[in-house]
Amino acid sequence: MDSFLIKGPTKLNGEVDISGSKNAALPIMTACLAKPGIYRLKNVPNLRDTRTMIRLLKIIGSKVSVNNSNITIDTTNCDNPEAPYELVKTMRASFYVLGPLLSRFEYSKVSLPGGCAWGPRPIDYHLKAFESLGAQVTLRSGYIVTKGKLKGNVIKFPKPSVGATGNIIMACSNLVENVTVINAAKEPEIVDLCHFLEMTGVKFKGIGTDHLTIKGCNKTLSSTIDYSIIPDRIEAGTFLIACAATGGSITLNNVNHHHLIDTINKLKLSNVTINKINNKLELISNDNKRPVNLKTDVYPGFPTDLQAQWVAYMSTVSGDSKVEDTIYLDRFTHIPELNRLGADIKMNNNTALINGVNKLYGANIMSTDIRASASLIIASMCAVGESHLSRIYHIDRGYENIELKLNKLGANIKRLSS
Ligand code: UD1
Repeated sequence: MDSFLIKGPTKLNGEVDISGSKNAALPIMTACLAKPGIYRLKNVPNLRDTRTMIRLLKIIGSKVSVNNSNITIDTTNCDNPEAPYELVKTMRASFYVLGPLLSRFEYSKVSLPGGCAWGPRPIDYHLKAFESLGAQVTLRSGYIVTKGKLKGNVIKFPKPSVGATGNIIMACSNLVENVTVINAAKEPEIVDLCHFLEMTGVKFKGIGTDHLTIKGCNKTLSSTIDYSIIPDRIEAGTFLIACAATGGSITLNNVNHHHLIDTINKLKLSNVTINKINNKLELISNDNKRPVNLKTDVYPGFPTDLQAQWVAYMSTVSGDSKVEDTIYLDRFTHIPELNRLGADIKMNNNTALINGVNKLYGANIMSTDIRASASLIIASMCAVGESHLSRIYHIDRGYENIELKLNKLGANIKRLSS
């Protein structure tokens, strides 16, 4: 199992290219299953998760070729609408195949995803919504089997869910009746999925709002679809927070700063300077940082996927701060590991109470999920001495060439293979 040896403290300086969005690429890759055709996707990040998705698309019968960040998915001859446990257990987003498979085959058999490092992650919204569109949903030997011809309806989620919104949108790809989703997720990754599906003939009203109407199209595709995935706002936010925490000044290339408004505002409140230049963002850090409280929220609020990185940052800023996660109440497995580095963080339910310390010190620490790993890398770059971060397969799921990108900016991170 690979691990990182991180020597600190190091500052980050220079330019870094932001990759395509993992959480936009994964559903768009599955959306290619909904209609037989040839899809050329650009700006797809090369990650463990996108490689897992390619394996799953091949099991279903797609032909996939990869050329750097361009991938071509030919779903013309797909004939196996099933997603096995072995793949779904390693990546929850595999559950996204359910919607497009049901849409195309009026049948799908997809392994039930397990829990997560940070607690239960239910799929009840997905299943109830499929039922309200007329699908029969049964659980057999750990698999969700869905069957039936779908019909239009109005679906109201109790609260917005990115995964359930994406799955339902894709299930409607071939349905020529209106489906309205109330409390739809507004995240840029859902907007990107809608824009992709528009190219396949699906019509939408209310893209980017919480009241989304979808009207599918049962015509076959007349030509190859070309689509470019949006930049990864979570990778971008991670680099910005890393630079604010370690010190230095960086420029991010290939970003959409509209997707990062709340993150930029919170960083500015902590006393760093941020300049927006077209599709670039420049961050200049400041030695007199200020503690900033925040709560995670659905888009356009502060993303839960940057909560762990923000906690690492605040643990190095003198003064008290509070960080509350309102999306995932248990998503705090990074706290004991940050405290091993000398941070002073206590938990009160779903709120981290942080007393910023003058120095962190290198230690042996363990990754528990993708974003917790990013948080521990940030803290280790701030810490004096060597940190040994194990189980980095988590970070490889969601960040492309993370140590190469950080080392180019001045970090000292060595991958150890064992
Ligand atoms: C996606 C992202 C993940 C991000 C999360 C929140 C992908 C591949 N993953 O996850 O990185 O952290 O959005 O922005 O895009 N819920 C239910 N029942 C359901 C579905 C969700 O109760 O059936 C609840 C969840 O427990 C959570 C909230 O709804 O409290 C939001 O979860 P959701 O938006 O669905 O997260 P994911 O799509 O799994």
